[in-house]
Amino acid sequence: MTFQVAKSDMSSKPELYANLQLQLRSLLEGERDFIANAANFAALLYHSVPDLNWAGLYLRKGNELVLGPFQGQPACVRIAIGKGVCGTAAEQQQTILVDNVHEFPGHIACDSASNSEIVVPLLVQEDLIGVLDLDSPSLARFDDEDAKGLNELAEIFLEGSAEFK
Ligand code: SME
Repeated sequence: MTFQVAKSDMSSKPELYANLQLQLRSLLEGERDFIANAANFAALLYHSVPDLNWAGLYLRKGNELVLGPFQGQPACVRIAIGKGVCGTAAEQQQTILVDNVHEFPGHIACDSASNSEIVVPLLVQEDLIGVLDLDSPSLARFDDEDAKGLNELAEIFLEGSAEFK
């Protein structure tokens, strides 16, 4: 099987995310393995969403987030719930947009190229199973349209994948 990731610019974010929904549904079709689907989800985002240097998942294990499938530079493996951007999004169970990571108290720097970040909590029936994390080398790269688009993609991913154990 070959899967051609559709290239996109940022002329229309709603169009980008609508297109990504189609691509993600196609990638998940007929497969419910959580890790395999998470790996393809990260790869799809990294290669389709413009201006990223990292895209991936952290998965909750007890009171920590542990590095999951991702694309980009090697990253820190364990993040305590409540720490960093990821741990804060996990604790608050809310999407967090950070325009300038260098101004976020407790930001955990994994790749020095990162300047802005968005973290989306992954919730299954109100149970936090992890977070989706995207980093960009550009300041203020992410906005409410990205938050909406990524939350909808996260829902499609979770619906299409067996619950993480
Ligand atoms: N910056 C994140 C850590 C993960 S990396 O960006 C991949 C944080 O502060 O939680």
